[in-house]
Amino acid sequence: MTDSSKIDTDADNAEGDWVQIAEVGQLDPERPLIPVTLGGRPFVLFRDDDGHLGLIGRHCPHRGADLCYGRLEDSGLRCPFHGWHFDRTGQCVEQPAEPEGSQMYKAIKVPMVPVREEEGRILARRVLPREDARATAGKDRP
Ligand code: FES
Repeated sequence: MTDSSKIDTDADNAEGDWVQIAEVGQLDPERPLIPVTLGGRPFVLFRDDDGHLGLIGRHCPHRGADLCYGRLEDSGLRCPFHGWHFDRTGQCVEQPAEPEGSQMYKAIKVPMVPVREEEGRILARRVLPREDARATAGKDRP
């Protein structure tokens, strides 16, 4: 992975609630994973073993490791530091160092953004920049 593979989205490629984040061809068949910045926030786009796309938060909630350096395996993305494993919904599904029978992983999830393919493009649901998200938080409250 190089910095040149990093994709920053902007308003010029937006269509309603969806924004183009990549071309399908940008995902290397050998290692289908690229960093994406959306709404000013870091994500990682990947294709799992079943061919489904995932767009999840880029930083591991354990110690903040960059999941762009993670291992694509078992239909998800495994953190390069201590092996926490995330599926394409951002749900942690395994923590190798936890005691057997631990259910702690069920409470751990990284942010996830809906993503879809359309005519060779990869689109993601628009994410508001942090400032906008704060400004609209609670807007619909009675
Ligand atoms: S930093 Fe990701 S599992 Fe520890």
